[in-house]
Amino acid sequence: MTTPYLEVRDLQTHFTTFGGSRVVKAVDGISFSLREGETLGLVGESGCGKTTTCLSIVGLLPPAARIAGGEIRLAGEDLTKKSPREMRRIRGRKIAMILQDPMASLNPLFNIYTQVSEPAYYHLGIRRQSLRRRVEDLLRSVRIPSPAMRMRNYPHQMSGGMRQRIVGAIALAGGPKLIIADEPTTNLDVTIQAQYLDLLKDIQQETGVAIIFVTHNLGIVAKMCDRMAVMYAGKIVECGSVRDLFGAPSHPYTKALLGSMAKLGSKEPLFAIPGQPPDLANLPPGCAFHPRCAEATQHCSEHEPKIVPCGQDWTAKCWLAHPKESLRHDHARA
Ligand SMILES: Nc1ncnc2c1ncn2[C@@H]1O[C@H](COP(=O)(O)OP(=O)(O)OP(=O)(O)O)[C@@H](O)[C@H]1O
Ligand SMILES: [Mg+2]
Repeated sequence: MTTPYLEVRDLQTHFTTFGGSRVVKAVDGISFSLREGETLGLVGESGCGKTTTCLSIVGLLPPAARIAGGEIRLAGEDLTKKSPREMRRIRGRKIAMILQDPMASLNPLFNIYTQVSEPAYYHLGIRRQSLRRRVEDLLRSVRIPSPAMRMRNYPHQMSGGMRQRIVGAIALAGGPKLIIADEPTTNLDVTIQAQYLDLLKDIQQETGVAIIFVTHNLGIVAKMCDRMAVMYAGKIVECGSVRDLFGAPSHPYTKALLGSMAKLGSKEPLFAIPGQPPDLANLPPGCAFHPRCAEATQHCSEHEPKIVPCGQDWTAKCWLAHPKESLRHDHARA
């Protein structure tokens, strides 16, 4: 078994607002790893900390946020210890990020050639004719027709799907081994979305790049990912292979998310998870999901569950997944 390319251990990222009086634990002690060429789906309701996790890894947190603890090891090096200057050399070269809104990543004032060539120029030292050829190849690899002509265009001259593919070309330009894609297809219509996902899969097969794929769409996770991590209120509540989690989810939250997925041909009404996600600055005691959980017991409302193994490479943070003996032991102590 290969050693992980990315290893996140007990990562904590906090936002401090209202002059320091309110601390939001957007990421609250999460651990996961990713091997080369693997795709991890990061799922969970809005506000559970997915984007904050990604921004922590690439070192692009907003000023109100800080990493309060833990490690982010990329090929063995802890990124939390790197200076902003060192992170600039790592971003684009080792990790690249694709955001939901391509217009937020593209600069309207520069043409496509300038923007796609920049990482290859800066990180790989490619110049002149070789750089032009590299940009053409990159545009071809993300299926931009007539790349020699299109690279003279500006972002506003392209469709939304093309712009997102250009962002993909920029992400690939520095030859990274990890791409973090934060809801890259949310703004695309379903046909273009399907094409973009197929493109990402093809690129992954050709380059062996690992991908963290953030999405609300579990259908995309089933199509794209090898493993998935389910986040709730800043914590990973279940993590394992897509096959295991879709087959027999351990955590009631994973079950509820899967239950709220539309199924082809089903006449059943869609299941909605009752209640709202909690305020991250004021979490309920015990398991944060217990007020919304159909299977919660008194124990769940008083004690926070630990992360326990459910199978090979499969963990859950739920009292139901705990071995019965440890539950009895905890009851006895409570
Ligand atoms: N700039 C900010 N200042 C203060 N709190 C913030 C800021 N950005 C995010 N948060 C808080 O951090 C939490 C996690 O936000 P994050 O954007 O990581 O969630 P997410 O899972 O990506 O949600 P979505 O699915 O809506 O994109 C949220 O509850 C939010 O309140
Ligand atoms: Mg987000």
